[in-house]
Amino acid sequence: MEKIQIIDAKKHVGEVVKIGAWVANKRSSGKIAFLQLRDGTAYFQGVVVKNDVSEEIFHLAKELPQETSIWVTGEIREDSRSKFGYELGVQEIEVVGESHDYPITPKEHGTEFLMDHRHLWLRSSKQHAIMQVRNEVIRATYEFFNARHFTKVDPPILTGSAPEGTTDLFETNYFDQKAYLSQSGQLYMEAAAMAFGKVFSFGPTFRAEKSKTRRHLIEFWMMEPEMAFMHQEESLQIQEEYVAFLVQNLLDHCDYALHVLDRDRTVLEKYTKLPYPRISYDDAVAMLQENGFDDIEWGEDFGSPHETFIANSFDQPVFILNYPKDIKPFYMKPHPTREDIVICADLIAPEGYGEIIGGSERATDYNYLLEQIRNYGLDEEEYSWYLDLRKYGTVPHTGFGLGLERTVTWLAGIEHVREAIPFPRLLNRIYP
Ligand code: 4AD
Ligand code: MG
Repeated sequence: MEKIQIIDAKKHVGEVVKIGAWVANKRSSGKIAFLQLRDGTAYFQGVVVKNDVSEEIFHLAKELPQETSIWVTGEIREDSRSKFGYELGVQEIEVVGESHDYPITPKEHGTEFLMDHRHLWLRSSKQHAIMQVRNEVIRATYEFFNARHFTKVDPPILTGSAPEGTTDLFETNYFDQKAYLSQSGQLYMEAAAMAFGKVFSFGPTFRAEKSKTRRHLIEFWMMEPEMAFMHQEESLQIQEEYVAFLVQNLLDHCDYALHVLDRDRTVLEKYTKLPYPRISYDDAVAMLQENGFDDIEWGEDFGSPHETFIANSFDQPVFILNYPKDIKPFYMKPHPTREDIVICADLIAPEGYGEIIGGSERATDYNYLLEQIRNYGLDEEEYSWYLDLRKYGTVPHTGFGLGLERTVTWLAGIEHVREAIPFPRLLNRIYP
């Protein structure tokens, strides 16, 4: 008899199969018991009919506590009434691991309680669906960049520098030196782009930000492509193609997860249409001021109400271009005709999810960068390797960083970024 995974049920209709599963939930009436089974690939129903099984099996099925692990044998049948479309006509059950007093019951629990039990909460169908979305974004990312001849390069996590500003660094001891957990792999990716042309990284980054919002994590994953011989315009096209590709793959491969999450496919379909709208920082400020935001002046960074207003004025992701130099990192390329702005763009997700991509063209001039490093109070010695990139065959280059969890939060249509990563690190939480 074949051992299968629930997700493959449709290939085995009419066959008797064996599945290793947990009992997520159950209900029973006199002559029938319904087991909600999960094996990590999907959830479906096992139906135990009193007259079809031994008295012992029926009794066992009715008494199985939540989260007991079992080997279950039965026949796969179509079931048009369920979201999943198939069910198991149970014949045999063998208990593998007992479970008693499982803390997360089908009733409502508060978020703090669920976060304290994150190691178990991950088993629930909504969390499962979110992780399927995350997995698809990761898979599609590799497909997109590999197809375009990007090389995956892994920057270090223990670093000596602070590319995105020195205020939110995690400091640690590196023998008799200081080190920081990486805020961004960008500077190393610039070196990699000079070696391999087009590169991308995909790994954890750390920000000791004292922000307690639904968009901020302390540890999050970032996707950072860097491209040699490329100006900003071409990068913007790659960014929008990439995001539209993520949405399309989600629609193509994650129907069941989107169903569980109640995510409206017609809303997502709008995000596959290109190009995405663009607005300059200048115009965005003017637009906000005209619409009653008297708390924003030219030169200030946007807060989430500002981003949400701008996003709601379009029904697709929107690029905000060319921010003031003073609120952006040292490495961005200065504008050719204006001293006060730099060549950069943030991509703002629709529906109030905020910034999902930050990117820019990079300054290529040795002397300009040296001056910037001094102006930003950074250690010249520490950046001498970075300056070398401008000494030996410097070229126009551009890159960006997409935050994985913010993207997943948006695509899954969930409330808070903490559910978009298996074990979130938050301002007040490093457990479990
Ligand atoms: O805009 P950021 O800070 O850009 C960089 O780090 C550049 N070095 C990227 C590059 O050009 N290679 O961060 C990029 C993205 C943001 O748009 C956001 O999606 C995400 O990373 N991000 C966070 N996500 C969750 N929690 C946080 N605290 C985040 N900070 C940034
Ligand atoms: Mg940013």
